[in-house]
Amino acid sequence: MKVLIVGGGGREHTIAYKVSKSPLLTKLYAAPGNAGISEVAECVPIKATDIDALVKFASEKEIDLTIVGPDDPLVMGIADAFKNAGLRVFGPDKAAAIIEGSKVYSKELMKKYNIPTAGYEVFDDSVKALEYIKQQNTYPTVIKAEGLALGKGVIIANDYETAANAIDDIMEKKVFGDSGNRVVIEEFLTGPEISVLTFTDGKTIVPMVSAQDHKRAFDNDEGLNTGGMGTFSPSRIYTKELEKECMDNIFVPTMNALNAEGRTFKGVIFFGLMSTEKGVKVIEYNARFGDPETQVVLSRLESDLLEIINAVVDEKLADVDVVWGDNAAVCVVMASGGYPTKYQTGYPITGIEEAEKIPDVKVYHAGTKLQGGVYCTAGGRVLGVTAVDGDLDKAIKKAYDAVSKIDFKDKHFRKDIGIKKDLIAR
Ligand code: AMP
Ligand code: GLY
Repeated sequence: MKVLIVGGGGREHTIAYKVSKSPLLTKLYAAPGNAGISEVAECVPIKATDIDALVKFASEKEIDLTIVGPDDPLVMGIADAFKNAGLRVFGPDKAAAIIEGSKVYSKELMKKYNIPTAGYEVFDDSVKALEYIKQQNTYPTVIKAEGLALGKGVIIANDYETAANAIDDIMEKKVFGDSGNRVVIEEFLTGPEISVLTFTDGKTIVPMVSAQDHKRAFDNDEGLNTGGMGTFSPSRIYTKELEKECMDNIFVPTMNALNAEGRTFKGVIFFGLMSTEKGVKVIEYNARFGDPETQVVLSRLESDLLEIINAVVDEKLADVDVVWGDNAAVCVVMASGGYPTKYQTGYPITGIEEAEKIPDVKVYHAGTKLQGGVYCTAGGRVLGVTAVDGDLDKAIKKAYDAVSKIDFKDKHFRKDIGIKKDLIAR
């Protein structure tokens, strides 16, 4: 099979690396890819959102399957465009990707089908939104821009002033553009978070192993929210009982709800969950693999990823065995100093090869490029240093051993990925 991967971050490097191991593969392309991906795929300089150019490329090269990594092309309708051109594609149609593209839609879906989530109200008028917040007078309160906002569209406000500023930024100043035409104002929930990615072909839904992300920039969950500073798998609290509760109350009902709405979802549904005193609730849906959840989750996959993806596209997911290692994985993100705000790029990176000499360590590239044959930093999140071992504590130690071999100017990474032990089951 000739396969094209759309995207160029750590998630796509991980997918490319796993797909490159498949006996079904004959040729792998990535658009636009990155320096790490270029070791396993031919990178072509087409942006992930340039749908017309991607369709043209896939048609000309007679690509058998295109795997879409990021959310924005999916929400724009890349899967529909590929199918209209007679091309096979892994990722939901625009109609189904709306579960990530519109937080208003996803909340309404959950309410209609009794899928547990935080209570909420929707506003398209900033004055009414502010009146509501004043009248509720309950803090913290959670304010979410309706659309995609690079992971920055959620504000947890501890007082009226912060809430009013958030409403003004989103709805009046339009800092997220049209993504802020409407806001969801949500009940604040507490409890440990769990990420569960699932494969679904609309008939069957198969959960992957659980993971947990670390979204804040600094140790002890301090600093700004980022795209994710590190992950581990499995979650320390996701017991068999919780998994069953999620399957029965959340995963299967979500697949069925989308079918009932005529929006059958084929691809990966990523459930952002919170284990509260009143049961597990959905914090958000994503219509794609998570980044950096993919790095740890797929590191534990023993089955052939390409075979699973083909089965999803052909609606035969029930026929494949999806087998996971009885192990643990940790990914420590090495970022450019200053991320997620201002940072410099273009610095040479050393030590990747040495880090990868440690057994079961793989360094996934996020923001890198090759300059004169040397790996250089090219983004906020630079590398996802990923280690697999028999249990979490061993995997954490191994990941940090690998991190210690790698250097670049102004490098920044969290030193506490995976070690938070206060996350006990409710
Ligand atoms: P989201 O982009 O929707 O995943 O939100 C980003 C982060 O905000 C989540 O990972 C949670 O930590 C937090 N969050 C979102 N919604 C809520 C909520 N209703 N209650 C408490 N925290 C929330
Ligand atoms: N790591 C969170 C996400 O991919 O949205």
